[in-house]
Amino acid sequence: MKRRVAILISGRGSNMAALIKAAAAEDFPAEIAVVISNRADAAGLEKAGKAGVRTVVVESKPFGKHRAGFEVALQAVLDEHRIELICLAGFMRLFTADFVQRWHGKMLNIHPSLLPSFPGLDPHGQALRAGVKISGATVHFVIPATDAGPILMQGAVSVSDHDSADTLSERILEVEHRIYPDALRLLASGQVRLEGDICKTVASAAAGNFLISPVVGE
Ligand code: GAR
Repeated sequence: MKRRVAILISGRGSNMAALIKAAAAEDFPAEIAVVISNRADAAGLEKAGKAGVRTVVVESKPFGKHRAGFEVALQAVLDEHRIELICLAGFMRLFTADFVQRWHGKMLNIHPSLLPSFPGLDPHGQALRAGVKISGATVHFVIPATDAGPILMQGAVSVSDHDSADTLSERILEVEHRIYPDALRLLASGQVRLEGDICKTVASAAAGNFLISPVVGE
């Protein structure tokens, strides 16, 4: 039985599209049962609709700072669609600790940095200002703290002196589209386990694989 997944978005939904595409494969262990946006104008809604996935808008704005009120409305949609796992994909709204606890071990997020470095806003700018030579993307379980929680998968890219936040974000986005479906595959097929703050997986790290940046010429 495929696990029933909801993808939560707030914007363009390119990670959502990558998850939908991957889940279309017959052997994928999860199905995207619904895409939920907290904004009616999210561009991803149209993409999901075109891909034949059900979409629901639960506007967060009317709830203002009353986050629990929004979550009651959201939980009702999740219940209606018998959702087992949640993927946050550019979902820009914070949850209460209660909601996060309710979905403990069942809710993933993707963030465009190698966490725990550069959580929060403008991670690409943060990476450039720190002068790191390697950055990337992280898929992690959601905990009450923002952009933190047990790390399921990461992918890295080199950072060049010529990078702007835009070029870096473009390169990292490619990695995001690769690792989010892979991470969901692992979770949905029961191949990960949480040991406190650490996520362990039966998939192994690539052996003998280096990413060195910058590369020194001969
Ligand atoms: C992605 O880069 C995602 O990693 C980031 O928002 C973008 C959404 O793009 N998420 C965060 O920064 C979470 N803190 P998308 O709508 O095209 O997937």
